[in-house]
Amino acid sequence: MRLDKFICKSTELTRNEAKKLLKRGELKVNGEVITDGSTQVHENNHITLDGQELQARSSRYIMMHKALDTICSNVDEVHPSLLNFVDVDKAFDLHIAGRLDVDTTGLVLITDDGRWSHNIISPKKQCNKIYRVGLRDPVEQSTIKVFKDGVQLQGEDSLTKPAELVIVNTLDEKHESREVLLTITEGKYHQVKRMFAAVRNRVVSLHREQIGEIKLDDNLAPGEWRYLTKDEIESIT
Ligand code: URA
Repeated sequence: MRLDKFICKSTELTRNEAKKLLKRGELKVNGEVITDGSTQVHENNHITLDGQELQARSSRYIMMHKALDTICSNVDEVHPSLLNFVDVDKAFDLHIAGRLDVDTTGLVLITDDGRWSHNIISPKKQCNKIYRVGLRDPVEQSTIKVFKDGVQLQGEDSLTKPAELVIVNTLDEKHESREVLLTITEGKYHQVKRMFAAVRNRVVSLHREQIGEIKLDDNLAPGEWRYLTKDEIESIT
């Protein structure tokens, strides 16, 4: 990782403060003064600040139950970033592994481990994301096959990857349902909403229940979070 990032991870200093102390020549890597914050450092480097060895804080892995009207961004906009509600040191050094829209609720994974979040986000990794979807119109059986075969979304070069659609409730005498579970492995912009728009339906509620093997903890109310367990962390590969 970059040296300036390492300093932030192992001290209470901000990126700016780290830059200043680097400029002053207060930091040594393997005995040599380094002033360039972009220098790449590794776990086995001996990094000292004023003679004291720095140890990087271990990475953090969090699940949050995203509430409505919060945003998955590192800066507040019209709505507050959900990172405001993660009351840990330097919460804004964390990032969100797979964003949700402002009007989507449910499971959000938050970390400062870029390699781990890559395994969730990268389409190549085919990490399942399961959504509970409420629809304006009854879902048609034919949509199961349409989504399995892939949908052409406007502005995209290729079809969506095979997605699994399960109809949850049969609500009326016509065997119609407006609630489904959808499993996708990608995270294209507004993907779920656009997939249903492609079959002339409309998403009226969207809630993410699961990412890979990690299920949203029922004990978390909207806006609450907890650290992931070791098994949950290790389940993402
Ligand atoms: N797909 C969407 O359309 N919105 C989300 O928030 C997540 C997936």
